[in-house]
Amino acid sequence: MPGITIGDTLPDLEFQTTHGKIRLYDYIGDQGWVILFSHPGDFTPVCTTELGMMAAYADKFAAMGAKLLALSCDDVNSHQEWIKDIEAYNGHKVTYPIIADPNRELIKQLNMVDPDQKDPAGNQVPSRALHIIGPDKKIKLSFLYPASTGRNIDEVVRVIEALQIAAKYRVATPANWKPGEAVVISPSVSKEEADQMFKQGYETVPLPSGEEYLRLVKV
Ligand code: BEZ
Repeated sequence: MPGITIGDTLPDLEFQTTHGKIRLYDYIGDQGWVILFSHPGDFTPVCTTELGMMAAYADKFAAMGAKLLALSCDDVNSHQEWIKDIEAYNGHKVTYPIIADPNRELIKQLNMVDPDQKDPAGNQVPSRALHIIGPDKKIKLSFLYPASTGRNIDEVVRVIEALQIAAKYRVATPANWKPGEAVVISPSVSKEEADQMFKQGYETVPLPSGEEYLRLVKV
């Protein structure tokens, strides 16, 4: 996926949304996390379910300090009409802004173009891309799904929690980790540092190599 990706700083773009004109850095703020997610187009079935599910989870994301920001490449008037369908289908108010990108400029700058799909006029369309942006305005994680595959919003919650824990404690999350389960201590943390940092104690898993690199801790 060429273009802006994890570790890169997002440009301070300005765009039209269903909440008026927004400047990206103002929206992110100094402390916040932002989930920026794109959709192939308005009035399409999978997108309608995804935006509705994001609306249903909005309070959960807010409690994690994360704001939602959607993008679909139709204009604001189209988005406003579409929101009525989304709310009727899911039953939750769409309280987050939806960016309009009718000229497909933003999706190129944000690396959200679907390499395969085109609209009926042959124009490029967004994929189901999702960037999680940290308080430092850098992309911390990206998903790229094809139009045929709706995203799992529980997975978005899970990875935000994993990113926030990793940012706080010098730990990482193992395979299939779920919130509340043990995490692993980063390999860059020496035994002396680990003893100091994790006073609650941690488990060093015995392995055939004899190397003590798999250390589990509850934080
Ligand atoms: C959908 O949201 O359902 C969709 C959009 C574009 C292509 C295929 C499906």
